[in-house]
Amino acid sequence: MNSLMHIIILQVLLGQVLSNLTCTSIKNIDKCSCKHDLYGDDIEVECGLSTLELNLMESIIKIECNSDQTQWEQIFGRIDINELRFTQCLLSDTGINQTISTLGIYKVQSLKLVAMRLDGSLENTYLSKLESVETLHITLTKLILTNESFEGTPRLTKLYLRENYIEDIPTGVFKPLTHLEILDLGDNEITKLNSDLFYGIPLKRLNLDTNYLTSLDLNSQSLKYLDVANNRITSLTVGRLNQLISISLNKNILVTMPDQTFKNTSLMSIKFSYGNFTTIPQRFLTNLDGLLNVYLTSLNIEKVPENMIWDSQNIANLSLASNRLNELPVMFFRDARKLKLLDLSKNQIENINHELLTPLINLETLDLSNNLIIQINNYSLRHLKNLKYLNLERNNITNIKREALYVPKLKILKLAYNKISNLTSNNLFSLYYLDQVETIDLSNNFINCIDPGWVRLIMLININLSSNNFTVLRIQDIQYINEIAKTNLNNNPLEVIDLSNLEIFAKAQSPPYNFWNNRQINLSSDKFICDCRNYEYARFLHNQMPKIVYMYLQIEQKLICNDGLGTEFSNMNIESLTCDWNIFEDVDKTDCFECECTYRPHDKSALMNCSNRNLSLAPKEIISSRNVNYVELNLRNNSITKLPNYENLNIKKLNIGYNNLNTINLTQLPKNLTDLHLEHNNLTMISEKNLNNTLPNLNILTMNSNSWICDCNAKNTINFIHKYSSKIFDLFSITCNQSSTLLVTLTEEEVCQEELNTAMNITVSILIVVLWSGFSLGLLWMLYYSSGVIRGVATGEFAPI
Ligand SMILES: *[C@@H]1O[C@H](CO)[C@@H](O)[C@H](O)[C@H]1NC(C)=O
Ligand SMILES: *[C@@H]1O[C@H](CO)[C@@H](O)[C@H](O)[C@H]1NC(C)=O
Ligand SMILES: *[C@@H]1O[C@H](CO)[C@@H](O)[C@H](O)[C@H]1NC(C)=O
Ligand SMILES: *[C@@H]1O[C@H](CO)[C@@H](O)[C@H](O)[C@H]1NC(C)=O
Ligand SMILES: *[C@@H]1O[C@H](CO)[C@@H](O)[C@H](O)[C@H]1NC(C)=O
Ligand SMILES: *[C@@H]1O[C@H](CO)[C@@H](O)[C@H](O)[C@H]1NC(C)=O
Ligand SMILES: *[C@@H]1O[C@H](CO)[C@@H](O)[C@H](O)[C@H]1NC(C)=O
Ligand SMILES: *[C@@H]1O[C@H](CO)[C@@H](O)[C@H](O)[C@H]1NC(C)=O
Ligand SMILES: *[C@@H]1O[C@H](CO)[C@@H](O)[C@H](O)[C@H]1NC(C)=O
Ligand SMILES: *[C@@H]1O[C@H](CO)[C@@H](O)[C@H](O)[C@H]1NC(C)=O
Ligand SMILES: *[C@@H]1O[C@H](CO)[C@@H](O)[C@H](O)[C@H]1NC(C)=O
Ligand SMILES: *[C@@H]1O[C@H](CO)[C@@H](O)[C@H](O)[C@H]1NC(C)=O
Repeated sequence: MNSLMHIIILQVLLGQVLSNLTCTSIKNIDKCSCKHDLYGDDIEVECGLSTLELNLMESIIKIECNSDQTQWEQIFGRIDINELRFTQCLLSDTGINQTISTLGIYKVQSLKLVAMRLDGSLENTYLSKLESVETLHITLTKLILTNESFEGTPRLTKLYLRENYIEDIPTGVFKPLTHLEILDLGDNEITKLNSDLFYGIPLKRLNLDTNYLTSLDLNSQSLKYLDVANNRITSLTVGRLNQLISISLNKNILVTMPDQTFKNTSLMSIKFSYGNFTTIPQRFLTNLDGLLNVYLTSLNIEKVPENMIWDSQNIANLSLASNRLNELPVMFFRDARKLKLLDLSKNQIENINHELLTPLINLETLDLSNNLIIQINNYSLRHLKNLKYLNLERNNITNIKREALYVPKLKILKLAYNKISNLTSNNLFSLYYLDQVETIDLSNNFINCIDPGWVRLIMLININLSSNNFTVLRIQDIQYINEIAKTNLNNNPLEVIDLSNLEIFAKAQSPPYNFWNNRQINLSSDKFICDCRNYEYARFLHNQMPKIVYMYLQIEQKLICNDGLGTEFSNMNIESLTCDWNIFEDVDKTDCFECECTYRPHDKSALMNCSNRNLSLAPKEIISSRNVNYVELNLRNNSITKLPNYENLNIKKLNIGYNNLNTINLTQLPKNLTDLHLEHNNLTMISEKNLNNTLPNLNILTMNSNSWICDCNAKNTINFIHKYSSKIFDLFSITCNQSSTLLVTLTEEEVCQEELNTAMNITVSILIVVLWSGFSLGLLWMLYYSSGVIRGVATGEFAPI
């Protein structure tokens, strides 16, 4: 299939003659190697060091000579091709025609000679008898032209001579080229041109860029496009170029030009960038009916003559960017009614006169960025009825009056990098009249709130408020922004995102809650307050709000806590978001004395932390508030000996570890208590006998390192421990006072039994004392000691012996 296609293509492109061209049909193939790319269109023939490549599809043959000895022999029958490229071949003075005739090539439309080597100048023999060639490229060859160089190529219409180190252009060299329309002499070393060089030749386009020309005065009745960029021109005469429509003068040394330089031309476009065009002549571009595009940029221009473009009524694009203009003469645009684009960026303009832009009723694009504008005059933009794009970036604007932006057709407004802190002036919204605007860039200003006036901008789809001064973002404010708009609030010093009313707002949306009814906000900040003030936002972030909320609002965020640790808010545990009690707002809130009180919205609890305060009395009152469900009280590490009656307080967690409690009354503990920490105190026993209704909700209990007695009085303690054993966290650390016996291993009967035994021992001992008086004291002590150790009886009660 593929090779069949190739054959058909061959026939179409090369005609009958080449219809059989395959590697095998190429003559002299035994001297050369031939590769035919089966799926491509290329055939590559390699003979010695040189190669010949054919692209049959495009009818191109490329020959690369890597040896001067290459003897080309006839390869094809008689073919015509579009393009022939020679690379690195030595031109013999028998001429190119003979070489390619040997190959069997009969006609060539386009001839490309890259890095050819020739001795001396380009004599007429080299390019002789190339009547069929219409396009000739010569490049990367040291070329010395003569009057006869192109005698053999009379049908040339395009001649490209870029980058050939040409120094001189003989006056008669182009005379034979009576069809020449395009000539590229760019990137050579030409210092001057005879003004009659092109006289009589139908030349339309001439490139002379990147040479060493110092002046230019050409006589051509046909020339339309002239590029003389990057020369050293100080004087330019174009008076005899009646057809000239486009000129590029970039990078020349011209500091001025004659008055009405282009008077006799048909100029449509002038480009002049990079230079010191400091003295623009009077009426420089005046009265040019065809003039459309004027680019005079980066020229250090400080002043323009008032009449510079007068009577040139068709100018559509004018750029004076990157100059040093401080202002423009008031009547400068007198006749520029058709101007569509005006670029005055990167100048030193401070003020736009209110009459200056009045004639520009068709202006669509106005760039005033990078100037020194402080204030836009109320009337200066008023006549720009068709303005769609306004760039005021990087000025010094602090404030905009509503009337100043009376440009109802505006679609894009750029105000980045100014000093705007709010969008109101006399309490009126600055962007009031922009009801067609779609994109507003206010990034890098000092704005900190969203004005209700935004609600007017119903076409808005993109708002950039990044790098401003927002510290708080309220959902109430977001509602002013068009519901389909994307709002960029990245890189603001955001501390709080107040979503407290979000659910209400979302629910107030009318059904069917379309997908397009969907605000998208991008946020980033490194000043975010990671406490309960952003609890609602955390709920939003962790998908804990009703689904409808996420249809109303989408937030993409990167919020870093202001904790100096770089914590990301999204990584914070929602339960750890608490607030100082003073910040928490609620009804019936009692004050917090002495201790450190916080509120935790996650479970609507209050935390009262009185730890480490050397307290000898526990607070009788604890904080409370209408919407607080319960309190956690932390009294750890004080010197409290007794707890007040907490029976009726709503405490859920109580930590009284590391105190001096001597006694505890379980009935006076809060009924709702779930966590109780009693470790490291001086408790000796639990006295309550009936535990049926005590601590019904208890879940976690610790009580090690107290002075638990383990005699018959420990009955209730042991009962208690057994009853709550599954809740006691430190069950296997609770030991009897001054011994290592675990309370959990004891039973009620055991402790009372022991007491009995010990009492008997003592009776016996006393008897012995009586009988043996002082002599046997040592034995007595031993007896007592061993029974104490073995039976684990607390010594307290019997110590006096
Ligand atoms: C193409 O090849 C066929 C058979 O190989 C031959 O008869 C014919 O003459 C060839 N045509 C040309 C133009 O070489
Ligand atoms: C080479 O010269 C011959 C004879 O003048 C001519 O027929 C042929 O077209 C020339 N080749 C090219 C590529 O112009
Ligand atoms: C080249 O031709 C011009 C006229 O076309 C003539 O004035 C000049 O002398 C010629 N140069 C040489 C080197 O023959
Ligand atoms: C413009 O052309 C007129 C006649 O065609 C001529 O008199 C005048 O000198 C030319 N002006 C310039 C600036 O070349
Ligand atoms: C413009 O003038 C300045 C100072 O005179 C000079 O340094 C600079 O090279 C000039 N630029 C051009 C493009 O001539
Ligand atoms: C910008 O305006 C302020 C006054 O509003 C002025 O102090 C400052 O110099 C101005 N900056 C520039 C670059 O002109
Ligand atoms: C808005 O900003 C201007 C200038 O910075 C200031 O004079 C004005 O008081 C501000 N208005 C409000 C409402 O903050
Ligand atoms: C930004 O906001 C902070 C606090 O809200 C304020 O102190 C500061 O002055 C503002 N900065 C500017 C430039 O308006
Ligand atoms: C215990 O909790 C319940 C339900 O949470 C609550 O109604 C009751 O008031 C609490 N008890 C006390 C003493 O606060
Ligand atoms: C514990 O407190 C209750 C009620 O306040 C009281 O009736 C009881 O006597 C107390 N128990 C002890 C052992 O003090
Ligand atoms: C623990 O209580 C006993 C009396 O029950 C007392 O003698 C002792 O001093 C208390 N210990 C501390 C550290 O208060
Ligand atoms: C405690 O409750 C149990 C049953 O749950 C009951 O048998 C016992 O009599 C109660 N004790 C007291 C003192 O009320």
